[in-house]
Amino acid sequence: MPGSPMKIVVATEKPFSKRAVEGMAAIVREAGHSCVWLEKYTSADELKAAVADADALIVRSDRVTAEVIAAAPRLRVVVRAGAGYDNLDLAACTERGIVAMNTPGQNANAVAELAVAMMIFMARNRFTQGTGSEVCGKRLGIHAYGHVGQIVARYGRALGMEVSACDPFITDTAVFDRDGVKRVSSPAELYRNSDYLSLHLPATAETRGSIGYDLFVSMPPGATLVNTARKEVIDEAGLAKAMTERPDLKYITDIAPDTAPELAEKFGTRFFATPKKMGAETEEANINAGLAAARQIVSFFRDGTAEFQVNR
Ligand code: 3PG
Repeated sequence: MPGSPMKIVVATEKPFSKRAVEGMAAIVREAGHSCVWLEKYTSADELKAAVADADALIVRSDRVTAEVIAAAPRLRVVVRAGAGYDNLDLAACTERGIVAMNTPGQNANAVAELAVAMMIFMARNRFTQGTGSEVCGKRLGIHAYGHVGQIVARYGRALGMEVSACDPFITDTAVFDRDGVKRVSSPAELYRNSDYLSLHLPATAETRGSIGYDLFVSMPPGATLVNTARKEVIDEAGLAKAMTERPDLKYITDIAPDTAPELAEKFGTRFFATPKKMGAETEEANINAGLAAARQIVSFFRDGTAEFQVNR
């Protein structure tokens, strides 16, 4: 019903910054709708209760399951304020005719900066004592060349790194040439020739568990795998096997593996995981992604615009 006031629930277990919240509220208010905030909640039941009369829902990595959808009889649109939408049950949305969207690229720079920081953190022995190394002159491989991967590539080049990338979905070599990046046709070739490998794969049926022993063990001496994407793309048993056989390999991740305590104990300083996913945790990324989500919902209710729909 275009023109009617809509209720938009913003459910963020990991809340947006104050400025992002204020900006989102203003966009929604000016369009004649209202916002309800559910922040730092600790159970799915709280989310289900919050969406009972919601027309729209904005989330971050919050899980929007079939149960949550079933608890929201009025829901027409869900926006994942961020890139990866593996937390949304798209089939359940589609079945109900609910439009699901993401906000691609909006938090990409924040994640890219963290990937670079993680690389340097490991190169400098996690800022502890001892002689570290420089990333300048080293080979950086980018696995999946989307918004984040492309920015990491540019930063890598600015640091004097030799950058290669692999992405089966980008066939236009101009995208790589533009950034001075060598296009590599297979992950096997990429991993074999990268001192640093930055992962930017989404978690999908095809990518889950796809990075494991064979790829990791094929990396050059002293190589580091950097994961700011998703833990699900890693085969944790294969990773542990490779790190056991190769005492020179390192793994740093922004998404703690299920086996993080075991990996930390076994591999010591060769393994590092952030306590909580922080790639998109910047004021700027919160504002970019949060405001984009609010605008996308306002446009959707105004005229049905669904540019970033992911469940077509
Ligand atoms: C994304 O997919 O956009 C990132 O993983 C950020 O996730 P977050 O919003 O939970 O920080």
